[in-house]
Amino acid sequence: MDIKQELQRELFFSKTIRVYHFLFALFIVLAYISSGSDLFLLPHSIFGAIVLLVVFLRLIWFIAGEKGAKLNSFDLNFSSLKNYILHYFNFKDTKPRNPAASFAAITMWILAIVSVVSGFIFIGAKYGSGLFGGLYSSDFDIHTIKEIHELASNFLMIVAGIHVVGVIVENFIKKTNIAKTMFDGKLHSDVKLEQPNQIHNSIILSGTMGILIIGFGMYIFINPKMPLFDSSANYINYKLVAPTMTQECTECHMFYPPNLTNQKTQLEILKNLPNHYGTDASLDDATLVTITQETMNLAPIESRFRFDKETFLTNNQSITNTERWKHDHEELGENWFKENKIKKTSCKECHTGIENGSITPYELNKYSRLLW
Ligand code: HEC
Ligand code: HEC
Repeated sequence: MDIKQELQRELFFSKTIRVYHFLFALFIVLAYISSGSDLFLLPHSIFGAIVLLVVFLRLIWFIAGEKGAKLNSFDLNFSSLKNYILHYFNFKDTKPRNPAASFAAITMWILAIVSVVSGFIFIGAKYGSGLFGGLYSSDFDIHTIKEIHELASNFLMIVAGIHVVGVIVENFIKKTNIAKTMFDGKLHSDVKLEQPNQIHNSIILSGTMGILIIGFGMYIFINPKMPLFDSSANYINYKLVAPTMTQECTECHMFYPPNLTNQKTQLEILKNLPNHYGTDASLDDATLVTITQETMNLAPIESRFRFDKETFLTNNQSITNTERWKHDHEELGENWFKENKIKKTSCKECHTGIENGSITPYELNKYSRLLW
């Protein structure tokens, strides 16, 4: 047997640290996989929130954790990193963690924080959701923040990839059994290792932290209307600001809020009420004047939802026939609406905030979340 296979390994990483490591790795991968599709924005955001929570707890462990969890067990010396790379086979550790692992961990935590926080800023500015919901009404530069989010996330995955390659190479070339370390917590090192104390290494503490983290994710999933994703601060109470319209225009269907389309479209609808989507919805002149006034005050020149971006909807054209709407809902598919017997035009069946002028991925109710 190769003598190298018997490199001494000692217990170093407590069960709690291993739980953090495992959950961090799992949820950055899940967050990465679930990115891209609007349909998965809720789970994606939840995975991101979990990542942030894990990093936060891990940072607390710098203070509250065992000796081996503290910052001074990391080798964050650049010349050390250089030596490690140049003299890979002869490198002697001066800290329990080698410099590559140390830099990778710190870099990943920083990138994770940047990625998740920029994600939260993005949903605040785009949807008015969550802690940064106040940015909704300002003309915040959504594109820059989105780029930062994507850049940090991609870079994070690259560093994670390098880290995994480093583990595989070390495992098979140096034969330190490092891949097993994430499960058994044992490490080979040239310096003396400090064993974790029994509390940090207990099943009770590590289990509690694991359950806490997963439970937090499950709680938001069941209840997305919590401060992290809530948008109701930006709700418009149309009953208050447009009493006539909310009364007259909800006799036959849900309330289509004036901010759904632009002013031109709204006026087009009001002009054609006697011939309104196959019915006569005409109003007396006085009511029509009042509603027109209310609409003018509330409908934007350019709607955020962009169903009528360049032009306006022609007479009796349904929002659901616009390219924009079809694009937003293409993942549901035509059959899906039929199978679930939901009318496309009954937006509020799925978008719970729409009658208050809000559409966000966090306000989708059970129908639209049936998919997963
Ligand atoms: C007499 C009944 C009636 C009244 C009153 C009425 N509507 Fe409608 N409206 C309809 C019907 C029917 C449709 C087609 C609905 C459908 O396809 O589900 C419709 C569709 C719409 C749509 C298009 C939804 C889409 O598919 O894009 C808008 C917008 C709309 N109504 C706005 C208004 C407004 C604004 C008022 C008040 C001025 C109003 N409606 C009053 C019957 C009515
Ligand atoms: C069967 C449920 C359902 C119905 C009915 C429905 N939607 Fe949606 N809508 C969804 C889902 C699911 C998404 C994709 C997730 C997302 O992007 O938020 C979506 C996305 C959207 C988006 C894009 C949101 C974004 O992320 O930028 C808009 C805008 C929208 N819907 C408007 C409407 C309007 C207006 C109506 C009614 C005319 C409507 N929807 C009817 C389920 C529905």
